[in-house]
Amino acid sequence: MPYHARMATPARKDQLPPPRRTISGGISDLPLENWREYDDILTDSLWVLGDRDNSGKHDGSYHGNFIPQIPRQLMRRYTKAGDVVLDGFLGSGTTMIEAKRMGRNSLGVELLPEMAEVARKSFNAEAAPGGKVFGEIVTGDSRAAQTREKIVRALAKHNRDGVDLIVLHPPYHDIIKFSDRPDDLCNAPTVADFAAQFGDVIENLAGLLARRHYLAVVIGDKYAESQWVPLAFRLMEETLRRPCGLALKSIIIKNMVNNRAKRNKEHLWRVRAFTGGFYIFRHEYILLFQKRGK
Ligand SMILES: C[S@@+](CC[C@H](N)C(=O)[O-])C[C@H]1O[C@@H](n2cnc3c(N)ncnc32)[C@H](O)[C@@H]1O
Repeated sequence: MPYHARMATPARKDQLPPPRRTISGGISDLPLENWREYDDILTDSLWVLGDRDNSGKHDGSYHGNFIPQIPRQLMRRYTKAGDVVLDGFLGSGTTMIEAKRMGRNSLGVELLPEMAEVARKSFNAEAAPGGKVFGEIVTGDSRAAQTREKIVRALAKHNRDGVDLIVLHPPYHDIIKFSDRPDDLCNAPTVADFAAQFGDVIENLAGLLARRHYLAVVIGDKYAESQWVPLAFRLMEETLRRPCGLALKSIIIKNMVNNRAKRNKEHLWRVRAFTGGFYIFRHEYILLFQKRGK
């Protein structure tokens, strides 16, 4: 190429491509040079989040939901406006409501049709301050090939063939009984079955994730027969064992306020902890994986 051809006229500022150095290496649209302005974005492995954000359609009434600040943190750091976020255990739709607010497209999978309907209504009623985005809800088992096919078809409607962030907030095994259905992960007969079923979800969905992009698992542990059962570490190992090219990036500990079963029973639980010799859960985990590749 002649030298003068390489000396192209400089582009106007509004024609410039997006900055190449963004936080999380091009995955977000936040220029790295402005890093001092991103006070709200956490970079420590200990997340002490305040009260639940109950604004808009986030009402917190679904037993077993997570606080919107979790998907918000993940989307701030690991997505751009217009990206697609997939939640494989949608529940009441927290991730999709938050995605709509943040100008991200979203797709949720939920096993229970009645919950999918609740999520759909909330999503539709939420405002979209960042402009029009799509939100698709698939009812089905996140392990099933048919569910994946439905996701692919839903993405194709919007000329997409993959997703930019996956959020997975499965049942914490049998801690909350979401339904009696055998395909509900809360009914896995043993912890080993639960981990294996979760691994099947990973294998079914991780292929949809763009390379170098992130997958987050939100999970807590449980006690059974007076023993601590480390569900989070079981799921972490299962995720890494599956041939999906996922590398572990962070193990985040998030504070947990009293869940419904323990609310107003703090004294009782303290006495139980003293007599039983155990500690009361005050944390859960966000396991963060990145898909390998260029
Ligand atoms: C912990 S909740 C998720 C709550 C959600 N993050 C929210 O904020 O509302 C887990 C959800 O997974 C659903 N679920 C259980 N097994 C499933 C499966 N095999 N496929 C898809 N969803 C499943 C349950 O019905 C439940 O709504």
